[in-house]
Amino acid sequence: MQTSWRPPDSGTVGITLEAHVAQQMAMSPGASGHFTSLLYQLCLAAKLVDSRVRQAGLAGVLGYTGDVNVQGERVQKLDELANETFITVVKRGGKVCAVASEELEEVAYVPGAGRYVLTIDPLDGSSNIDCNVSIGTIFGIYRRLSDSAGPADLGDVLQPGSALRAAGYVVYGPSTMLVYSAGAKFGVHGFTLDPTIGEFFLSHRDMRIPDHASTYSVNEGNWVRWEQSTRDWIDWLKQEGEGPKRPFGARYVGSLVADAHRTLLKGGVFAYPADQKAKEGKLRLLYEANPFAFIFEAAGGRASDGRRRILDIPPEKLHQRTPLVLGSADCVADFERFAAKK
Ligand code: AHG
Ligand code: MN
Ligand code: MN
Repeated sequence: MQTSWRPPDSGTVGITLEAHVAQQMAMSPGASGHFTSLLYQLCLAAKLVDSRVRQAGLAGVLGYTGDVNVQGERVQKLDELANETFITVVKRGGKVCAVASEELEEVAYVPGAGRYVLTIDPLDGSSNIDCNVSIGTIFGIYRRLSDSAGPADLGDVLQPGSALRAAGYVVYGPSTMLVYSAGAKFGVHGFTLDPTIGEFFLSHRDMRIPDHASTYSVNEGNWVRWEQSTRDWIDWLKQEGEGPKRPFGARYVGSLVADAHRTLLKGGVFAYPADQKAKEGKLRLLYEANPFAFIFEAAGGRASDGRRRILDIPPEKLHQRTPLVLGSADCVADFERFAAKK
């Protein structure tokens, strides 16, 4: 019987995340090991969160804490657990001077000479936690700008996405994956957790987003609140036509990590546009939009707010929101074309 199945690429078998990062950093002149160490810490925290997610319904970590976070959203126990886990691990690791988390009202400054700044959405996809649907973690890493002899400040955190040194995400899905990039020069690489060994192994080397695809990912329930240009764009995607091949198919999970991960692998477009309720958009520039914009660009895709490159937006405040359109370059350009008509 003919089969198209092939065994895993023997070129990647047994390459751990640790070994891969060390190998990449060896290509980077002047690398001191601090960045590598910070990535290990994030990887460890992700494994700790993963172990709780896997037992969620059994370990009493489902449901709400009773608190409301700075975003005005009800905090879930897993939001809090993930936030505490990532922050505790990186604070102890001594490589960061500041952590900006979606779950914290203010920046958590870390005394010492840490060279890096971490921005993090510790648990993305809160609305899916209780339903056993993929959730995740999103992070960005910047170099500290202030003098390491003194304390870090808000200027270290409010850097544009173009200044990111690295970004990544973890998907806690049917399998757990960590995807990260240290920029276009280094590529985007995906690692899958082998839960029996507790190691992330290279499984997706040099990820590139397909140039063309016909899938869109958007919460269409917001239709009545959308600007006419957004409605026109969706109408156009659903019509029959050529180049791009239309109609597009729809996929929407409601966890950015899952929707963006699928878009990165399969191509197409994810959008969370501004609407009458979320006038600035819903997603957060520092914790969600910038890390994904950095990764998509490094994989050959694009990220836009409809007018501007996401990575060029100057952040003015910590919890700033932005419209976000991510995907294959052509698909993002189609959205911008409609947005420009309004
Ligand atoms: P978070 O769970 O970190 O607050 O993020 C939720 C976000 C994101 O994961 C997703 O893309 C979006 O909210 C979904 O929003 P809707 O439920 O409005 O579609
Ligand atoms: Mn989120
Ligand atoms: Mn979150």
